[in-house]
Amino acid sequence: MSVHSLKERELLNAFLFLLKGYITLEDQFHALFREAVRSIISALEAKDPYTHGHSLRVSEYALLIGEALKLSKEELLNLELGALLHDVGKIGTPEHILLKPGRLTKEEFEIMKKHPVGSAEILSHIELLKDVVPIVKYHQERMDGLGYPDGLKGDQIPLLSRIVYIADAFDAMTSDRPYRKALPVQQAYDELLRCAGDQFDPQLAALFMKAHQQKKTLQHESHIFSRKQKRKAAA
Ligand SMILES: [Fe+2]
Repeated sequence: MSVHSLKERELLNAFLFLLKGYITLEDQFHALFREAVRSIISALEAKDPYTHGHSLRVSEYALLIGEALKLSKEELLNLELGALLHDVGKIGTPEHILLKPGRLTKEEFEIMKKHPVGSAEILSHIELLKDVVPIVKYHQERMDGLGYPDGLKGDQIPLLSRIVYIADAFDAMTSDRPYRKALPVQQAYDELLRCAGDQFDPQLAALFMKAHQQKKTLQHESHIFSRKQKRKAAA
């Protein structure tokens, strides 16, 4: 026989019911908020063919690492939002610098380097995004301390910023830019490996390449499977 009275069990059930409702509401709110951010970012990037879809892809790549690390639900949400919003500060960067087809001059690069602080400044006014601010502020810091804005080194750089840095660099390498064509995926992997330790967190870079390859294999297999199914149905 249960040690709890009927009244206690009823109370417990009512509490569990309320908790379930709260979690569902919270999940729905997060999903809605995430979709709103995705839509706004897509609209902002749509006018520029070189950045079109960039932040969405960065968030997908960042989540591959976050899921491989088994981050909590809250950390994954912050990571996704940080990846989606990492470049909003570029709104303050002049277009002739953003779209320059050649290499930036030293002065132009100094202006470009202000965008992570710009992103952090914009987000700092939104209470709901307070944990996302450091992610975007430090997404250009390098493991060897030669990044910006603060020259943080290794573990001083927030984990989620180190993840966004890899995802951002991989998408930049595998997309067309005004000054060069997209690199093949294998060449981008080689670059990640070559710069692991100095630029990128080596463990996170290795996790990313493994997860990205697995995803590509899965997509390839499901493509072959659906082609076979279609052929079967047509026969
Ligand atoms: Fe970026």
